[in-house]
Amino acid sequence: MRIISSVAAPNIALIKYWGKRDDLLKLPINDSISITLDEKALASTTTIVLGSKLKRDTFILNGHAGPDAHITEALLLIRRRLGKRHHIIRKPILLISDNNFPTAAGIASSASGFAALAEAVASALGIRNRREISILARLGSGSASRSAFGGYVRWKMGKRKDGEDSFAVQVSPRSRWPQLADVIAISSAERKKVSSKSGMERTLKTSELCHCRQEHVQRAVEKVAGAIRRKDFRSLAYLTMRDSNAMHATMLDSWPPIIYMNDTSRAVVEAVHQYNEKAGSLRAAYTFDAGPNAHVITTRKEAGKIARMLKGIRGVRKVIVSGVGEGSKTIPTPQKTKQLIARILHK
Ligand code: ADP
Ligand code: DP6
Repeated sequence: MRIISSVAAPNIALIKYWGKRDDLLKLPINDSISITLDEKALASTTTIVLGSKLKRDTFILNGHAGPDAHITEALLLIRRRLGKRHHIIRKPILLISDNNFPTAAGIASSASGFAALAEAVASALGIRNRREISILARLGSGSASRSAFGGYVRWKMGKRKDGEDSFAVQVSPRSRWPQLADVIAISSAERKKVSSKSGMERTLKTSELCHCRQEHVQRAVEKVAGAIRRKDFRSLAYLTMRDSNAMHATMLDSWPPIIYMNDTSRAVVEAVHQYNEKAGSLRAAYTFDAGPNAHVITTRKEAGKIARMLKGIRGVRKVIVSGVGEGSKTIPTPQKTKQLIARILHK
């Protein structure tokens, strides 16, 4: 029997992934680029038990046992990929995972959750290759492929049908530009009504605007990668805000329209523009994933002021500040998880 624990943080995309060329393998229609967040601020902590005598896969997510179709599908794909080489992964698995932030509310719990799962599976099977870990994470959730790396990360869309060239690479380590921060304004911790999966399917099928974004998004990825290498915050901020707006425009252009942003999100957009205008330069950049919660990318120096500003906006319930993280990693199994495993397996 093998027991392995891991931790992973979500990432925030500066240039977004919104559309797949293969739904099952989660192969995207464009490259995307993100900052991996710090697991000290936001984390999924996962423990897996392989080779136990359990009769079926058992998941305990945030303390609740129950089925989870998304995790079941991810495991199916992971087993298909690794099962022939590693017999132990074919047996029922016990998965215990906790997120220290709202699940399924657009703060990328799927990214950290599946990156942590991939990290734990890889470690249990002695797989050390980061590219492989990124592919395993991608099978759970596309954006999870990026959380396998720390710092500034690019997920290459790849061209192959089998997805072997679709994985993340590090553009720059945290150590080269540790000064950035993500100030997250939570206005809703509710489960989103339209999942990323069905939302992106609808956009790709119905939005004309989506093709327009497609024409220049690849160039935007190159520009953001360049901005990261030059540590050019202004270009990064400008391109980030433009792509978030462009992606949400394609969502609104879908039919029926998909609306993730709310009044509080829009108030954050206004406030960030005002803040930058007052400062006379781009000091902060908003970006929104598939949810209303705002991510404001700024420098650590500016983060306190931005956090205070966001707390003053109507509808903002909580503000979390995260620095740049180091990517998923294994950790010693927490004591309380060991006790829980013993209780489950000796029932
Ligand atoms: P989010 O915006 O939080 O990523 P999604 O609806 O895209 O929301 O993904 C949420 C789903 O991701 C959950 O229903 C679950 O299937 C999976 N997930 C979330 N957290 C974890 C975790 N810690 N471990 C494994 N899977 C997780
Ligand atoms: C808006 O990675 O959650 O956050 O691959 O279907 O699981 P699936 O989708 P997911 O989508 C993330 C979309 C996004 C943009 C991004 O993170 O790039």
